[in-house]
Amino acid sequence: MCGIVGYVGKKDCTNVLIDALSKLEYRGYDSAGIAILDNDSIKVKKTKGELKILEEKLRSDSTFHGHCGIGHTRWATHGEPSDINSHPHGNARLSIVHNGIIENYKELKSFLEKKGYVFESQTDTETVAKLLDFYYSGDPMEAITRVVKEIEGSYALGIIFKDFPDTVFAVRKDSPMIVGVGDDEYFIASDVPAFLKYTNRYILIEENEIVRINSSGVSVTDIHGIDVNKQVSVADWDMESAEKGGFEHFMLKEINEQPTAIKTTITPRISNGMPDLSECGITPERLAAYNNIFIVACGTAMHAGMLGKYIIEKLARVSVTVDVASEFRYRDPIISDNDLVILVSQSGETADTKEALRIAKEMGADTLGIVNVKGSFIAREADMVLYTHAGPEIAVASTKAYMVQIAMFYLFAFELAYAKGTISKEECVRLTSVLEQVPEKVGALLETQSSCQYIAHQLMNADSLLYIGRGLDYALSMEGSLKLKEVSYIHSESYAAGELKHGTISLVTDEMPVIAVATQRKLYEKTLNNVLEVKTRGAKVIFITHENINVSEEAADYVIGIPSIDDILMPMLAIVPLQLIAYYTSVAKGINPDKPRNLAKSVTVE
Ligand code: AGP
Ligand code: GLU
Repeated sequence: MCGIVGYVGKKDCTNVLIDALSKLEYRGYDSAGIAILDNDSIKVKKTKGELKILEEKLRSDSTFHGHCGIGHTRWATHGEPSDINSHPHGNARLSIVHNGIIENYKELKSFLEKKGYVFESQTDTETVAKLLDFYYSGDPMEAITRVVKEIEGSYALGIIFKDFPDTVFAVRKDSPMIVGVGDDEYFIASDVPAFLKYTNRYILIEENEIVRINSSGVSVTDIHGIDVNKQVSVADWDMESAEKGGFEHFMLKEINEQPTAIKTTITPRISNGMPDLSECGITPERLAAYNNIFIVACGTAMHAGMLGKYIIEKLARVSVTVDVASEFRYRDPIISDNDLVILVSQSGETADTKEALRIAKEMGADTLGIVNVKGSFIAREADMVLYTHAGPEIAVASTKAYMVQIAMFYLFAFELAYAKGTISKEECVRLTSVLEQVPEKVGALLETQSSCQYIAHQLMNADSLLYIGRGLDYALSMEGSLKLKEVSYIHSESYAAGELKHGTISLVTDEMPVIAVATQRKLYEKTLNNVLEVKTRGAKVIFITHENINVSEEAADYVIGIPSIDDILMPMLAIVPLQLIAYYTSVAKGINPDKPRNLAKSVTVE
């Protein structure tokens, strides 16, 4: 899940590469490195740790300048984060950066060792560099072609050769990589934000197409050396969306962008007051024909799916199974060709979700991707795609992407329920209009940030926390708990409130705060009883419910009141304080919420 970049152009490539890498650090920050071509020689600078450490090193080296180079920000898979394992890898003849995993690196390594190569690092990537060197005798295209025929696994590779001082070569399979097309300057990158400051025009690269960028432009050939004509697309993300825009962190900026993100996602999908997903071929008739729905995703996207299940089953009475993609792919799921499999992914590149998509297609099901990144693997490979229009999400902890994923599930559930005849047209129109009110209400909720800051200070010293809720609130609390855990390093679990007494309540003491979410009025009294049970055992309770419900002191230490809306839509509002509590707890503990330890945003390896 590393980030790779490459640049050829008139600007100083060191500055451009560092700038581009800063937009990809969300993909990994175990180490950073760049290799440039300068006076017919390859110069490499790389170091363990975040990009700023590399920047410091470069600042004290005034000789490190050129017009062609590659760069890398790493999330280690093979070999600990260290200077020696940092990318680029190579020698005086060539240098490479890699995102992915070379599955047969051990065999390749022993083959190369027999040929006399001596390995320095523990990475799988070094075998690619050495194999490339082994096959290289003056023709880069030939060497790259031979290498891609031998390596197995996933890769996006950026490559420079000493003999070709103005060219960056690149190739990909199962890891993302695109080409940025500027005015007399060209880029390769794992993701659009890397070059958005310079150009919004880009070319998508298919598996094993070999790319060359140099002063005369971009050329792409297939594995047989035949030229491929590529179309230039225009990204609708602007540079500002990839910058912090005055906010202290991307996470806070992205939480604040939610009202706009919801509006941009739902507005084009509402026509005459009804949900309209026909852009991807979804019609009420097609929906009515599905027997079962499966939602497959990872992490936050899976939590969006969990909410999706509650909403769809409640409204449309269609059975929905939610799977973690890494389980789905190995559990032999029972799926038929009358079923719909929905893959949810912000990046569209998550390895397990991609594989789940492949399996679902193989089993004959219809597949629908709910994806944020245009042209990503899942968007391209699913039978149908609904893009969420959240704009680039940079913070590792997903917030606005989750929000728009659930917004999409509401639209989908309303349309499905209407198609199945479980709600009337009038009810469908009414629910859709309530959904349209959500952005404004989320905006208003964002004004209440100070109470979340106060609560964060009450929580920051806890070792462990519980989130409880019932129904939709339970599904929502899973996401609240993950958010806190990933950015504050406080252990937390989400529990169905009614399940507590079957074991977990034994953990509850005055040292374990409990965040109770109770927005579903039908279940309110039941949840309240569970809250009282933990209160009696000494827990400090933060209680999240409708603002017009009067919660007694006996039940809660702190109440967060949410403006009222139909209960079924309450999760879109209740998630906001949960996100803010996680964010402020992280900040209070001195952690950078944008880059939590051990994580990377796009998990492109299994
Ligand atoms: C959540 O904050 C994490 N970033 C993570 O759980 C994420 O949602 C998961 O890795 C799935 O990513 P995707 O949406 O890009 O597929
Ligand atoms: N496998 C390579 C390494 O560990 C690249 C990692 C990745 O892309 O996640 O260095």
